[in-house]
Amino acid sequence: MRVVITGAGGQLGRSLQEAFAGRELLPLSHADLEVSDPSVVGGLIALKPELVLHAAAMTDVDGCERDPRRAHEVNGLGTRWVAEACRATSAIMVYFSTDYVFDGHRQEPYAEEDPPHPINVYGRTKLEGEVEARSILDPDRLYIVRTAWLYGPGANNFVEKVLRLAAQRESISMVTTEVGSPTYTEDLSRAVRRLVEQPQYGIYHLTNQGACSRYEWAAHILQLVGMVDYPLHPIERYERPAAAPPQVILANTRAAALGIRLRPWRQSLADYMAHRDG
Ligand SMILES: NC(=O)c1ccc[n+]([C@@H]2O[C@H](COP(=O)([O-])OP(=O)(O)OC[C@H]3O[C@@H](n4cnc5c(N)ncnc54)[C@H](OP(=O)(O)O)[C@@H]3O)[C@@H](O)[C@H]2O)c1
Repeated sequence: MRVVITGAGGQLGRSLQEAFAGRELLPLSHADLEVSDPSVVGGLIALKPELVLHAAAMTDVDGCERDPRRAHEVNGLGTRWVAEACRATSAIMVYFSTDYVFDGHRQEPYAEEDPPHPINVYGRTKLEGEVEARSILDPDRLYIVRTAWLYGPGANNFVEKVLRLAAQRESISMVTTEVGSPTYTEDLSRAVRRLVEQPQYGIYHLTNQGACSRYEWAAHILQLVGMVDYPLHPIERYERPAAAPPQVILANTRAAALGIRLRPWRQSLADYMAHRDG
């Protein structure tokens, strides 16, 4: 099976390449493919993909808030072009979406069928990508995988940022008012591989089990490297351009019904820490 991966240089893209090893892989980094350019449709068609794992996105949440037009071009329109290429080649598409399609103003976990209500540009444009893909592709050609708080290979993730800051500063502060599920890209990628081996398409929530605040997450990271006495301060607010949903826990109901379950987040984090390059 010919598998195209967009955003192949990103953290999820890199883990997907490992999880799908053994297939005929065509990993496309940003240098290979600019998804906001409509010519991407012809370029992808020429590759004759059977499966497209669309992980490319503008993921800088504050950057999206500052430049909503670019976020729309990449996350919304970019997904349209990729979906059009999938339609033309009858390829199956996996679109990676986000917990930020929800506003986070509720205590209970969100199910796949709950109505989205994004509160920032990143969430709105990722939802736009969902709408584009659903409007272009038949339901039996599309998986939408909503995930959250990703970390994986590469230095551009929360875990590495916390460790960098702790090495550079005398103390750091983290919010207690943002709650989510840290998710290891390797676990997610293996789950996606199993997901596409079965024909029940549609929306899936896929995260590691459990949830914590950003503060608890940072505390656990520091604990794993033995920095238990490092001064980490809990704060309620952090001034930044984009509003963050206060608490999004994604109920992984549909995947669980297929027997696909990711590990508890603490186990995965320990695994990542034991194998990280940094
Ligand atoms: N990170 C999270 O916490 C999180 C949470 C929920 C869902 N997701 C979704 O999961 C997917 C993967 O995220 P990730 O964490 O792996 O992000 P990432 O590490 O930022 O990777 C995204 C990749 O997309 C590329 N890209 C950006 N703009 C592009 C464009 N216009 N054309 C082509 N490629 C472009 C980036 O290249 P450059 O770096 O060169 O720009 C990068 O290699 C995304 O769809 C994201 O929305 C992420």
